[in-house]
Amino acid sequence: MRLKIAVFASGKGSNLKAIIDAIEDGGLGATIVCVVSNNPDAYALTIAREHGLEVFALSHKGLSREDHESKILDYLSKLEVDFVVLAGYMRVLTGHFLKAFKDPSGFFRVTNIHPALLPAFKGGNGYEDAFNYGVKLSGITIHLVDEEVDHGPILAQRAFPRLADDTLESFRARGLALEHSLYPEVLAGIVNVGVEAMLVKNGACSPAAGSK
Ligand code: GRF
Repeated sequence: MRLKIAVFASGKGSNLKAIIDAIEDGGLGATIVCVVSNNPDAYALTIAREHGLEVFALSHKGLSREDHESKILDYLSKLEVDFVVLAGYMRVLTGHFLKAFKDPSGFFRVTNIHPALLPAFKGGNGYEDAFNYGVKLSGITIHLVDEEVDHGPILAQRAFPRLADDTLESFRARGLALEHSLYPEVLAGIVNVGVEAMLVKNGACSPAAGSK
């Protein structure tokens, strides 16, 4: 069975494109049932339309957080979405939204990609914040979403070094290239082995993790 995903994106959509490419190449057994954005001008929507995907664009402006989320949930309710995949979605989802995707195992069926090694450099500017801090090593994180911002069980991380001659642009480009390979890989893991097996492999689910 193919995993039915809804990809949420607010900006350029390069991660959306990487996921579309992986599906079209046959390396990811998922179907994008819709692309959702809070930014009607997002280039991600152009990419989605070019690939014949259904889009739902609804600005959050003038709506309460709950009303905005409710309208998206109404739309999604017709589509039997297995997983929500956040790919540069610049809104924090509240428990009101998340509870619609609660898995019987207790986690929310919502993933996010963050441009730093969580729990470091949370927030909307991971690459800038890590670069400006002067880190020698940074990375990217893909995690399950919970009610806290940039928080939840980690599914995968990749690190990359800051090079001596890096600019913010070259640093970001190196991170983005990793994002584009890791997100499809993690989604393929969800399809092939399931979230719980991935978390157990990481040690995140083990009650003994962190204790002696
Ligand atoms: C990525 O760096 C992602 O980690 C962050 O937002 C950015 C989205 O880029 N959450 P794009 O829209 O996929 O190109």
